[in-house]
Amino acid sequence: MNAVSVKPQAPALGAEVDCGDLRALDAAAFAAVYRALLDNLVIRIRGQTLTDPELIAFGKRLGELDFAPLAKTGKERARPHPEIIVVSNVMENGEAIGVLRDAEVVWHSDNSYRDRPLSYSALYALEVPPAGGNTGFANMYLALQTLDPALRRRIEGRTLKHDMTYNSAGDLREGFKPVSDVRDAPGPSHPIIRTHPETGCNALYLGRRPNAYINGLSVAESEELLDALWAHATREKFTWHHEWQVGDLLIWDNRCVMHHRDPFDGGYRRVMHRIQCAGDVPALRSGGREGHPRAAVAA
Ligand code: OGA
Ligand code: MN
Repeated sequence: MNAVSVKPQAPALGAEVDCGDLRALDAAAFAAVYRALLDNLVIRIRGQTLTDPELIAFGKRLGELDFAPLAKTGKERARPHPEIIVVSNVMENGEAIGVLRDAEVVWHSDNSYRDRPLSYSALYALEVPPAGGNTGFANMYLALQTLDPALRRRIEGRTLKHDMTYNSAGDLREGFKPVSDVRDAPGPSHPIIRTHPETGCNALYLGRRPNAYINGLSVAESEELLDALWAHATREKFTWHHEWQVGDLLIWDNRCVMHHRDPFDGGYRRVMHRIQCAGDVPALRSGGREGHPRAAVAA
């Protein structure tokens, strides 16, 4: 088997995985990489040279690839490979080659605004700016586990409505109208505490802050409770911030992490290719427990 080494990064989450060329991973090495992902929530694999078909082939080993159909504003070029979303600020012939520009990307979990949000997302770096554009991750097992008991009682059994209208850079998605009342924002509701189907551990599931609404509360109560949850969930000690190099592949688990991107100077090019896997319908399962090993270490 190819040698696989796993080096945890921040106390809360993240690991660097060294496994050599991803195109040549045998089944046992792939299983070790996959295990590292479940154990560390987000993994970084450096030094890769992948074509789009190779990135797609690797993605298929992680799970059923998803086409993230709503990840477009209508202002960017059609995707040459429907499985691959280009995340970039680059313009060609007056047209954006991808999404999310050079903006700050607010904390979120990918595609929480769908009935079946994504399990994994993987971002592969082709061009990176000299500074800025770092991507941060936060451990939502840990956020749940350390939540103030009084706050926790207020969310138990509750669901959150996840708005589909805007992407995490604040751009209106193709075909949607601006939201004026969060209760009318289009999107599915998911439990605020969900059980990860593979690890069996419970995590806080917040999606994204703008236009979120906790069902059954007044708008004022929902806003106040969401602000308290978000202040807790994005505490620095729950995070790990990754600085990009060309050839990095980052894979994260949307069922138990949120991520954020710093803005960067739009005078530089940043080009990332993303693939993503279909996930389950978020649910709190009987037998869901606390004590994911990575959350225990940092708590
Ligand atoms: C994404 C995303 C962050 C980044 O692709 O889902 O949030 O670093 N990207 O570009
Ligand atoms: Mn994202």
